[in-house]
Amino acid sequence: MTALYLRNIFVVLNLFALHARSAGLNISGEAVTTRFWDCCKPSCAWKEKGPVDRPVLSCSLDDKPTNIEAGTGCSGGSAYLCSNQQPWRVNDTFSYGFAGVYILPSLTGGKIEESWCCACYQLDFTSDPLKGKTMIVQASNTAYDIKTTNRFSLAVPGGNTTSHDACARQYGVDQNVFGTENTGIQSKDDCKKLPEALQDGCKWRFDWYEDEAFPTANFKRVPCPTELTSRTQCTRTDEKQLISGDTSSATTFSPSFSVLSLVVAAGMLFV
Ligand SMILES: *[C@@H]1O[C@H](CO)[C@@H](O)[C@H](O)[C@H]1NC(C)=O
Ligand SMILES: *[C@@H]1O[C@H](CO)[C@@H](O)[C@H](O)[C@H]1NC(C)=O
Ligand SMILES: *[C@@H]1O[C@H](CO)[C@@H](O)[C@H](O)[C@H]1NC(C)=O
Repeated sequence: MTALYLRNIFVVLNLFALHARSAGLNISGEAVTTRFWDCCKPSCAWKEKGPVDRPVLSCSLDDKPTNIEAGTGCSGGSAYLCSNQQPWRVNDTFSYGFAGVYILPSLTGGKIEESWCCACYQLDFTSDPLKGKTMIVQASNTAYDIKTTNRFSLAVPGGNTTSHDACARQYGVDQNVFGTENTGIQSKDDCKKLPEALQDGCKWRFDWYEDEAFPTANFKRVPCPTELTSRTQCTRTDEKQLISGDTSSATTFSPSFSVLSLVVAAGMLFV
């Protein structure tokens, strides 16, 4: 009887461990998307934002990786958003990109950047005309300004300018080359005025992304493809669990987890 009792405790503890481990990894929900390109050092490029091997790369005025300590070009520092952290089309229904993320604490167990910095998410768009299209984005930044909904603010050159003049300083152009506040530039033609390194991502908005502003999407965490991590140099330490299938074994247990543990716990009462 004692042996059975101990085994039951062991089973319960195991299930709890599995559940706890998968909680931070298997995050999914519904989100709104917006656009940004403020040229600032991304939030996940600072130290100690999450369990990562190194923070997201940020770049100097000449678009070369800076050291991690450099302050943001948005307040007198020398680190800016690297030009290659822009979106690109793979085919008619699939694109890669980077995003400023905010996920509701109810989904992350109360964690903020620790939960998303450098994690990758698949966005399946749910609103027309993007319905049926998918993106995989890496969270390189944080979208703190709205905290009432899950949000992915896609990094799109010329997609949305803010009051900072960091883009003007980074590229030595007039800030209005990046368009007007909350909208960015007005037409695909205006992409030609942007610095050359940013033009493809700018045009992507008018082509693949169909110039959408606030499309909705279902999102879920996925393993990061090297296509994205090779640009940011940032990988999370919990990627290994995600890839090794700890979450898929959790899938098997997840739906029946509560019932199963209740049954096992109830069994314990009677031994
Ligand atoms: C532009 O950025 C601001 C600030 O994050 C946001 O409120 C607004 O919705 C964005 N506009 C678009 C078109 O994404
Ligand atoms: C588009 O690319 C993605 C990612 O490589 C792939 O999974 C998908 O099958 C492709 N779709 C088409 C229609 O080629
Ligand atoms: C993740 O959670 C979703 C929603 O709760 C569920 O449908 C899915 O099967 C889970 N996936 C994994 C890999 O655990």
